[in-house]
Amino acid sequence: MNEKRIGIIMNGVTGRMGLNQHLVRSILAIREQGGVALADGARLMPDPILVGRSAAKLETIANEHGVARWTTDLSGALANPDDTLYFDAQLTAMRAPSVEAAIAAGKHVYCEKPLATDSEVALRLAAQARAAGVKHGVVQDKLFLPGMRKLKRLVDSGFFGRILSVRGEFGYWVFEGDWQPAQRPSWNYRKEDGGGIVVDMFCHWRYVLDHTFGRVRAVQCLGGTAIPERVGENGIRYECTADDTAYGTFELEGGIVAQINSSWSFRVYRDELFSLQVDGTLGSAVAGLRECRSQHRVNTPRPVWNPDIPNPFKFREDWKDVPDNQVFDNGFKVQWELFLRHVVEDASFPHDFLEGARGVQLAELGLKSWKERRWIDVPELVP
Ligand SMILES: NC(=O)c1ccc[n+]([C@@H]2O[C@H](COP(=O)([O-])OP(=O)(O)OC[C@H]3O[C@@H](n4cnc5c(N)ncnc54)[C@H](O)[C@@H]3O)[C@@H](O)[C@H]2O)c1
Repeated sequence: MNEKRIGIIMNGVTGRMGLNQHLVRSILAIREQGGVALADGARLMPDPILVGRSAAKLETIANEHGVARWTTDLSGALANPDDTLYFDAQLTAMRAPSVEAAIAAGKHVYCEKPLATDSEVALRLAAQARAAGVKHGVVQDKLFLPGMRKLKRLVDSGFFGRILSVRGEFGYWVFEGDWQPAQRPSWNYRKEDGGGIVVDMFCHWRYVLDHTFGRVRAVQCLGGTAIPERVGENGIRYECTADDTAYGTFELEGGIVAQINSSWSFRVYRDELFSLQVDGTLGSAVAGLRECRSQHRVNTPRPVWNPDIPNPFKFREDWKDVPDNQVFDNGFKVQWELFLRHVVEDASFPHDFLEGARGVQLAELGLKSWKERRWIDVPELVP
C-alpha cells in the first residue's frame, strides 16, 4: 500500500488538551488505524515530534505512548524541513510567538483555541499565514460533537421552521483546590496568564452559533468572578483575577436570539455538561455533547399554570431521541483528519485562522460589553 508520511511538530503535549485529545485520541489513534485515507488511495501517516519545556515529562510521555521523537528545542524542530506541520496546544498566552516562528519557518500551522488573547494578534497571525502561503487551522471541536452534529442535521432538514431562540447552559463546579484539587489548570483563573471564561468559551460560542444558526451580529455580556481565591497545583493560595462566570446574549442574523450561560461555578442539574435548547415555530430540540432530543409541534403538550395541584406532566417524556444513524468518531480526531487532508491534498477546511480570529473578536467584544454595560455590534472581519 502506498503510504505517505507527514512530520508534525506538536507543542504543548504535556498539557491536558495536547496530551489527551490531540496526541493520544487524535494523532496516535490515526497512526493505529493505519493513517488517513487520501483521495489517490494512499494512506497519510502522521509522524509526531513532541516539543515542550520539560525533558523529563516529554520523555515519559514518549515512552508511555511509543513516540520515537521529542525535543525541548523548538527552533531546532522548526529547522527540520522533513516536519512540515506545526501544532500548538500551549497555554493561550504562549501561542502567538511560537506560531509566528512556525510560519516564518514555512510550516503549516494548526492550533488550539483561542488563537490569541486579542483580535489584533489573531488577525496578524491570519495575515502572516496567508502571506506565507501556508495552510492554517484552529480547533473548533464542539461542531464535531455527536449532539451538535445531530442538532445541525435538524437545522438543515428544516425541522424547526423559523428558529426563534437558542439557550445554552455550559459549566460545572470546578473545585477550589483546597479541600479537593481543582480539575482545571490554575492559569484559567488568572487574567495575567491568559485565563478567563469569556476568552475561553466565547470563541467556542462564536463558531457554534455562526455555523449552526447564523452569523453573530451583536453581543451583550455580564461576567463575574464567583470564587475570588483558589489553591493552585503548587498548593499555594492565589487570587482569581479572571472571570469564571459569564452570562452572554447574542443577536444572530435572521433575528434569532441566543443566550448562553457559561460558568465554572455552576453545579450540574441537567443531562450533560453542555446543553443547548433551540425553539422554533415547528419544533424544538435540546442537544448536549452526545445526545439530541426533539419535540415536534404535534407532540407539544398543553400545560396550564396551576401551582395548587401537583404537576400532571412528565415533560421529558414528550421528547424523542434523534438517532445517531452513523458512527461518531472523536471530534478532535475528525477535525485533525480534515486538516491533514487540507494540507496534503487541498481538501476544503473552513476552520482557518480568520475563523479563529472571529472567535477571539467575540470574546473581546463580550468583555467590552461587560465593561461598558451595553450591547456591542460585531463587525464582519475581513481578511
Ligand atoms: N478545545 C477545547 O475544548 C479546549 C479545552 C481546554 C483548553 N483548550 C485550550 O488548550 C490550550 C491548553 O489548555 P490546557 O487546558 O491543556 O492547559 P494545560 O495547563 O493543561 O497545558 C498547557 C500546556 O502549555 C505548556 N506551557 C508552555 N509554556 C508554559 C508556561 N509558561 N506556563 C505553563 N504552561 C506552559 C505546558 O507545558 C502544557 O503543555 C489553551 O489554549 C486552552 O484554551 C481547549
